[in-house]
Amino acid sequence: MSADSAYGMLIPHSRPQLGREERLAVLGTLDRGWVGAGGEASREFENALAAAFQRPAALAVSSGSAALEVALRVADVVGERVAIPAFACASIERAVVRAGGRPYLVDADPDDLSFPPGTLRSLAGQCKVAILIHQFGLPAASATEVADAPLAVIEDATTCVGGHVLGRAVGAFGRFVVMSFSATKMLCGGEGGAVVGSAEDVEAARRWTDPESDLPPDAPVPHAKIPDMACALAATQLTRLAEFVTRRADIARLYDETLGEEAHRVLRAPDNSSGTWWRYLIAVPGDAAGAVEHGRADGVGFSQPVPTRQWDGRGHFPVSDRLYQDLVSVPIYPSLHDGDIEHVRRTLRKVVGIE
Ligand SMILES: Cc1ncc(COP(=O)(O)O)c(C=O)c1O
Repeated sequence: MSADSAYGMLIPHSRPQLGREERLAVLGTLDRGWVGAGGEASREFENALAAAFQRPAALAVSSGSAALEVALRVADVVGERVAIPAFACASIERAVVRAGGRPYLVDADPDDLSFPPGTLRSLAGQCKVAILIHQFGLPAASATEVADAPLAVIEDATTCVGGHVLGRAVGAFGRFVVMSFSATKMLCGGEGGAVVGSAEDVEAARRWTDPESDLPPDAPVPHAKIPDMACALAATQLTRLAEFVTRRADIARLYDETLGEEAHRVLRAPDNSSGTWWRYLIAVPGDAAGAVEHGRADGVGFSQPVPTRQWDGRGHFPVSDRLYQDLVSVPIYPSLHDGDIEHVRRTLRKVVGIE
């Protein structure tokens, strides 16, 4: 079966870029005879992550969800409110609940889909922790407010690792940085995640993932360990991050050219910051679902960035409602071939109604 047919669509919404380096790295773990958790590849990956974020320490775990849960456990959110963006992947809220916290949903900023300006300050006395997500490859402007925030901030860099906010790297802001390395993310480990931060926090996080730790029997986060094979894969991807970011930006420029005057509909990082083009999000007002169907009928895996309205019936979230109705995510990733890109551009033209 070819890779394309394995994804069930001519051009899938996401597909990792896996090459010779990744193959050799995974084979290396087999050759060393250590494929489980805690071997050389894990240690090397953790060191590389800490260096990449210029932080003292890093812990690799089994998923982004586990990373979030562990960070929340260390921050001790049991019974406490945790602020999260309403317009976000459902795993965020689930991690808060598993860690014993009470999710506090915040409506989206219309430009970067993260917390609107002033949100962190406004949470004083209301929430113990906030999960600041750089959403869909867009750097979150409110990261610059973290230093003065009246609560602990977990910074989720999953989709924007390699990006910058006002000259500072994504991942430079929160008390913890967390990430997912599942197959659709900027860096693919197959599955995987990480918590990055101070030596003390990372050591505490390690205890939460260790079934042999001195925590009470029901305390450690289950299934949090990551195999060396996944670490070897993700570590190789980390060395290729700049290449991935450049290739994504090149493809975004081609899509922008196709859209011409309609390119204003596309969400992009402001001039003083840089994103990663993890997603190419275009507004099709009121017709996101129709546009997704149209794209798929044309063989292109368009998708809605947040497929379910988790915030529905839970308060007033006008921006999230509008984003849900308007935004379509167009395939953009380094493994797209030139022919794929031309196909996506033709489909984009049709969906947006450009003759
Ligand atoms: C921004 C972000 N953080 C964390 C996660 C959770 O990651 P995982 O699927 O590895 O548990 C996701 C999942 O899509 C995500 O989009």
